[in-house]
Amino acid sequence: MCAGAYGAGDLPDNMTDAQRGALSKTVETCGTCHGVNGRSVSPTFPNLAAQQAPYIELQLKAFKDQSRADPDAQAYMWGMAAQLSDATISALAGYFAAQPAAPGRGGNSTLIAQGKSLFEEGVPTRGIPPCASCHGAHAEGMAAFPRLDGQHAPYLFKQLLVIQSVLRTAPVMHGVIKDLTKDQMQAVVAYLESI
Ligand code: HEC
Ligand code: HEC
Repeated sequence: MCAGAYGAGDLPDNMTDAQRGALSKTVETCGTCHGVNGRSVSPTFPNLAAQQAPYIELQLKAFKDQSRADPDAQAYMWGMAAQLSDATISALAGYFAAQPAAPGRGGNSTLIAQGKSLFEEGVPTRGIPPCASCHGAHAEGMAAFPRLDGQHAPYLFKQLLVIQSVLRTAPVMHGVIKDLTKDQMQAVVAYLESI
């Protein structure tokens, strides 16, 4: 991975050269899966670009203390996060949050339309609130509420499954989606990948 793929200007100003060098190396490691610019090629690996910095920090700490414990978190991220200091976690979050977001990619238009209505309106008859009420009108997220737009649909689908089955502990989200059907999940993730 080429260190020149991102500019030193993306790293915090108040770092020493040694700190910048160490952070660049860490970013390269993360980049082998997530893309050095935070836009990953494989849908197994979530995009981190333009993700909310507070959310990234919370997740890295949850991998480090092993409270985010779904199988892929254990397999891929526990080891990665184990050695990160709080200062490095904060710098990594700032770096990835500052990268341009992944663009939306089209898909099945019927599914996308169903997903859009679910995202914006929820399912009032089943007590499911609009996803937009927490994740933002364009799924841009805010603070601890993650950005979802342009994210890989298979990754989002897998997260809905592991949150619903409580393999990933996320009490607020669990309450929201506990009655979401798999068809509804497929529709909403198709919409999110498309925007
Ligand atoms: C070997 C591949 C690999 C490497 C290297 C890697 N990750 Fe990950 N990362 C993953 C996978 C897979 C997931 C999804 C885990 C899951 O499904 O729960 C993930 C999830 C994440 C998440 C949660 C994203 C979300 O939307 O909830 C963050 C944040 C993250 N990684 C940051 C990093 C950082 C920072 C580094 C470098 C220190 C890094 N990763 C290195 C594979 C990797
Ligand atoms: C009451 C607020 C709230 C509502 C409503 C809500 N979410 Fe969430 N969502 C969250 C929070 C908070 C998280 C982060 C959980 C964590 O920290 O692990 C999250 C996480 C997620 C994730 C995991 C993202 C990632 O990168 O791993 C997905 C996918 C998701 N939400 C989809 C949805 C969908 C689809 C809906 C609508 C059916 C919805 N959310 C409604 C609060 C909400």
